[in-house]
Amino acid sequence: MNLLPWPAQIGSGSDISCAKLYPGRGGRQASRAGGDRAPGTGYPERVTRGSCVLFLALWGCGSQAPECPPCASASVSAASVSASAKSAAPASGPSTADATQAAELTFRKEGERVVTLTLSDLTKAIPAETVKQLDPYYNKEKSYRAVPLAAVIELAFKGEKDLPQKEYVLRAKDGYTVPLRGSKVFEKGAFIAFQDVEVPGWEPIGQQRANPAPFYLVWAGKDQTDLETHPRPYQLAAIEIARFEDVFPRTVPKGLAADSPAQKGFALFREQCIHCHAINREGGRVGPELNVPQSVVEYRPVDQIKAYIKDPLTFRYSTMPAHPSFTDADLDAIVAYFTAMKDRKQDDAKTSGK
Ligand code: HEC
Repeated sequence: MNLLPWPAQIGSGSDISCAKLYPGRGGRQASRAGGDRAPGTGYPERVTRGSCVLFLALWGCGSQAPECPPCASASVSAASVSASAKSAAPASGPSTADATQAAELTFRKEGERVVTLTLSDLTKAIPAETVKQLDPYYNKEKSYRAVPLAAVIELAFKGEKDLPQKEYVLRAKDGYTVPLRGSKVFEKGAFIAFQDVEVPGWEPIGQQRANPAPFYLVWAGKDQTDLETHPRPYQLAAIEIARFEDVFPRTVPKGLAADSPAQKGFALFREQCIHCHAINREGGRVGPELNVPQSVVEYRPVDQIKAYIKDPLTFRYSTMPAHPSFTDADLDAIVAYFTAMKDRKQDDAKTSGK
């Protein structure tokens, strides 16, 4: 499998700022749209490889940069942040163990904090297992100590009904954000790993040698190694119940028929693009904002946009993944979405404290 490296995963201590982290999650496996995409499902069941997605306003960040999402947020202890900073070499020894013990996961529902659980809260309530699987980030078999994701969700949101029917957002401490449907969250094989069995203090991940601590979403099944369908956010800090439309309301092309090309383009965009690109200031920051102040359809010819999305490297070298399996209809739909959003610009400062 041809994994693109993740460029510069920068974390350099507890003063991490999102500005530094933005480039951190750019590269990824080229999308394979069409092939495994369930038509019309809309909600992204696959990676939303955001970088610092703009959740600051929606969720409250408590971090440094005003445009910064809840990276290095209160939910991540300084200890675990500095543990990650040591990622250049697999650290071992008591300090790493302490940092691991101090690891916390925060759970929110529609913006409100529900509970924060430490690793020992989790492992006291849920028997840990050893999960051995082919890890696509390391490109080899890895073993982790881990707890099943479904059990973690049930513990954190106990009393909440219909958990498998909800929509979730998983956030890494740098703001990298993965929306997941409940059906995916409750899929057998999903685990929250908290310890690398072979390498004390975790084997660094990817070219940037990021440390996956404190928590890393992994999948145990043989058919769960595709990062598109089974994303693996590492440095996981928070798990939230949140509807896509509530998290990214300004990306929704309101007032259009459900079967319009723009709606189809929106479905593609939110599955495959939003984690890197913002529309109306909502979305990822790895790639450029595509709607404000000018929509990409206002400054680039449509044919060029379509050719670029399909094969960006023929234009310039960057971390924008190719989308070789997009059909002409898919590309037309995405352009229809951009065009619809051009007439729905929102560029005022986001209101905070939702
Ligand atoms: C992994 C992150 C990532 C994903 C996923 C991604 N892009 Fe990009 N995209 C980028 C980056 C980075 C650039 C800027 C590249 C450059 O400057 O050369 C870019 C550039 C673009 C541009 C050119 C903008 C301009 O003004 O030049 C368009 C259009 C675009 N992307 C559309 C899309 C669409 C549509 C999707 C989803 C099908 C998508 N991108 C998915 C990272 C991404």
